[in-house]
Amino acid sequence: MSKSESIRARSILFVCLGNICRSPTAHAVFRQLANTKRPDLKIDSAGTAGYHKGAKPDTRARAAGEQRGYNFKGLAARPVVENDFQIFDLILAMDESNYQDLMAACPSEFQYKIKMFLDFAEQHKDVNEVPDPYYGGNKGFEYVLDLVEDASHGLLKRLA
Ligand code: 4NP
Repeated sequence: MSKSESIRARSILFVCLGNICRSPTAHAVFRQLANTKRPDLKIDSAGTAGYHKGAKPDTRARAAGEQRGYNFKGLAARPVVENDFQIFDLILAMDESNYQDLMAACPSEFQYKIKMFLDFAEQHKDVNEVPDPYYGGNKGFEYVLDLVEDASHGLLKRLA
């Protein structure tokens, strides 16, 4: 994928492991940034694991995001399901392990939809993964937001 090529997508799914920290943060940040320019976009998030199914975003992720003006209304964790590969145009993995898990679960005809979210980052060009903040301190959640904001801006620019 060339770094300047524009992308056609009407629906985007953000994916991490638990769907309570990183992908809901990406969901909340991106839906807010895209709201004016692309109100037609369908945006969702999910986890490669289902063990937090139904849970609201992690309180630390929410607090950090709300501090920067994002809202997490209506978000609840769910696992990635087979149908996601069919209905979403773009499926964005937060880390390499999420990417590998998605590729393993995805029918080959849809694998082209799966990309690393940070491929779209413009400031953090040397960073490939949004690191899992779950077992760390608050700094981890701030760093997640820095990366997510960067990649969200880059993604929005690239959308045709
Ligand atoms: P996330 O973070 O993948 O960014 O939602 C995690 C949340 C929960 C766990 C791991 C990562 N967990 O092991 O429960």
